[in-house]
Amino acid sequence: MPEPLAETAAWRRLRWHQAEIRDLHLRDLFAGDLSRGERLTASAAGLHLDFSKHRVTDDTLALLRKLAAERRLEEQVRAMFRGERVNVSEGRPALHVALRMERSRSLIVDGVDVVREVHDELDRLRAFAAEVRSGAWLGASGRPLRNVVNVGIGGSDLGPALAYEALRPWVTAELRFRFVANVDPAELAGAVRGLDPAETLFVVVSKTMSTLETLANAAAAREWLRAGLGPRADLARHVVGVAAATERAAAELRIPAGQVFRIWDWVGGRTSLCSAVGLSTLLALGAEGFDELLAGFRALDEHFLTTPLGANLPAICGLLAVWYRNFFGAETAAVIPYASALRLLPAYLQQLSMESLGKGVTVAGEPVGVETGQVLWGAEGTKAQHAVFQLLHQGTSLVPVDLIGFARPGEGAQAQHDLLAASLLAQAEALAFGRTEAELRAAGAPEETIPHRVMPGNRPTSVLLAERLTPATLGALIALYEHAVFTQAAVWGINPFDQWGVELGKELAARIAPELAADWPHELLHDSSTNALVRRYRQLRDRWG
Ligand code: F6P
Repeated sequence: MPEPLAETAAWRRLRWHQAEIRDLHLRDLFAGDLSRGERLTASAAGLHLDFSKHRVTDDTLALLRKLAAERRLEEQVRAMFRGERVNVSEGRPALHVALRMERSRSLIVDGVDVVREVHDELDRLRAFAAEVRSGAWLGASGRPLRNVVNVGIGGSDLGPALAYEALRPWVTAELRFRFVANVDPAELAGAVRGLDPAETLFVVVSKTMSTLETLANAAAAREWLRAGLGPRADLARHVVGVAAATERAAAELRIPAGQVFRIWDWVGGRTSLCSAVGLSTLLALGAEGFDELLAGFRALDEHFLTTPLGANLPAICGLLAVWYRNFFGAETAAVIPYASALRLLPAYLQQLSMESLGKGVTVAGEPVGVETGQVLWGAEGTKAQHAVFQLLHQGTSLVPVDLIGFARPGEGAQAQHDLLAASLLAQAEALAFGRTEAELRAAGAPEETIPHRVMPGNRPTSVLLAERLTPATLGALIALYEHAVFTQAAVWGINPFDQWGVELGKELAARIAPELAADWPHELLHDSSTNALVRRYRQLRDRWG
């Protein structure tokens, strides 16, 4: 049996080292090395990472790299890119990187060239998107489709929704886009409000085509089409599917097999945007924009695969996450994009990180023995500054923060955008260096207010800067986080590609759903709390019915 992680030489060295440097302040680290702000940086695929405002010394970084080496990070990365069955508990590869490989490449997995399959499917997707965008694809009433409603949840929603919001300047003005994820019927009702069914296309996305929320919404969408288009209309003109289970999808959605686009079981939901799951993104951006997005992902993939750890952005970010999680006990981490267009990024990254890293056992099924994962949260800057930053500045918890910004605005005036950037830079500075008692006194602060106004500082941030939020930058940014998550999983020895933890809730919901019927004839056999809540729900619902 391999040595428990906490007993390994690298881990023990890091523990001793942390005890030595934990009281060092970023003020001292910067004072002791005037080049620190230039030195502790790395760039790739149009992203610039400043990691100088982290509570690390050169020794820390060297020890973290040793840990990565001991945990065979680079071998694990190569195994993933080669298509080995790194998703051990589901017995399959995790090949999202193949989704963005160039057409000229080849990657044989189980005798099949997956790159070729990927490009064949991309060709089908591009052809369909071109038909819809040009108006050649007609609905049941003979009119072109102008509204696209993406129906899917988790990875089948978050990526497409993020890309749409993030890349609005690249989105065609000819089409309107809506996203429906929750089984809450209000969500679909809101999404179709004001839309003409004769001009509406539903893109139903579900890898498994068995997800309760998506199937319920797809059925409700069909009802809405039927009500709007009449009993004899060919509703299939208004629905396409994206699934791994293609036959099941065609049957479930009642559409021809040719209207189902394929993903593979080796594509994880939370890393699926570059597959057919991104169909609404392709419809929004067109083939050129989508290709740019893929190119951004690819550039970061190649960087991750080929760059030594010391300059490897995802490896640096992942190792710093381990440093704070395991050696400082940080239970949460924040991502603050200074771009309203990235307002959905925190939600996207929550699924990516928390579904991947919320594991308590190793790949071999043994307890990990150290803490894993962190509660990832975030909000857009500057709004977050006026809501949650107080806790970051003066609260008692250590929360590492990623601040993401751009040199040029997506839309609007540069001068106003400069104010946004100034806020980002100011927050990183304030979090790192704070404000001391002496500084407050020198500034004439009344003595009794000083304890309240002292800003301890020493709060770590990564600053990620790019020139502009483009499809390529977005691709690189998402790939950076994907691989940073992989780095953490590789160190902890856990499988970031399964999500067994969400299954039990799904099973129980399927059991409870029929029990909510007023005329449920059987005894309720849950615990007393669940039984009572079922009864209470029925009473509340039926009181006025
Ligand atoms: O709830 C977990 C999950 O399986 C996610 O991993 C996935 O992205 C989501 O549900 C949706 O799954 P599907 O695409 O199969 O509908």
